Amino acid sequence: MPNIVVPKEDVYCTLLLNDAYLPGALVVARSLRDYGTRRKLAVLVTSTHVSQDTILRLKHNFDHVIDVKKLTNHDLTALNTMGRTDLLATFTKIALWQQTQFRKIVYLDADTLPLRAPNELFDLAMPFAAGPEIGFPDCFNSGVMVLEPNPEIYKQLLDLANRGTSFDGGDQGLLNIHFHDFYRLSFMYNVELYRSYRLYMPALEHYKDKLSVVHFIGREKPWDMRGKTPVDQSAYAAFYCELIERWWAVYNNLTADES
Ligand code: GLC
Ligand code: MN
Repeated sequence: MPNIVVPKEDVYCTLLLNDAYLPGALVVARSLRDYGTRRKLAVLVTSTHVSQDTILRLKHNFDHVIDVKKLTNHDLTALNTMGRTDLLATFTKIALWQQTQFRKIVYLDADTLPLRAPNELFDLAMPFAAGPEIGFPDCFNSGVMVLEPNPEIYKQLLDLANRGTSFDGGDQGLLNIHFHDFYRLSFMYNVELYRSYRLYMPALEHYKDKLSVVHFIGREKPWDMRGKTPVDQSAYAAFYCELIERWWAVYNNLTADES
């Protein structure tokens, strides 16, 4: 018998740690499909921490629903400093490097909104890439990453996680320690938006039509924000609300199709 080498798949992937982020995960999948990607869609889920109904909806909307073990950081000091103890199980994200059935993963947080399908990211030669973190641009934001699963790297990341090594207490502080030499993606792939934080608006206006993925950072998420009015009269507040409406349009379409 000749040896048939089946090439490994490329996938878009997100992560779901609880039922609350389910609408976000579904919107990520639906947007990528709406923008015509032919890549498979995967979701990592801590299945023991979500409902049966959530699993069913994931199976309906993703090609691969992959069960992963919840990994928590027991040291809450840094997360307390940021007022974000809700992020304590984000260490689970390192399970991406365990998924060696895939060649390359374009990872998107469930609180991102793709404005196009960034398929060109699968062609990057580098094994790891991410965009700048607006809070400290020498770091990368771990909400959008291009990576190649690798058991050796997974072991190293797990070792950091077990020792609680992360400067922000979450996956981002851990991954930035490990991948200190990362290939920098354009900010266009992970435009971090925060309701009461104003981006550099003139630049945003200038680049507006080139954005690939926006990322709703902060505690408040689009699914909590239906019908909210802009915080002020600024162009940024209007832009932010427009994107929340865009998120809802995708969500409404998918729930209409489910029923
Ligand atoms: C930032 C990132 C998010 C990550 C968190 C914890 O908020 O946007 O993806 O989970 O940091 O490190
Ligand atoms: Mn996020």
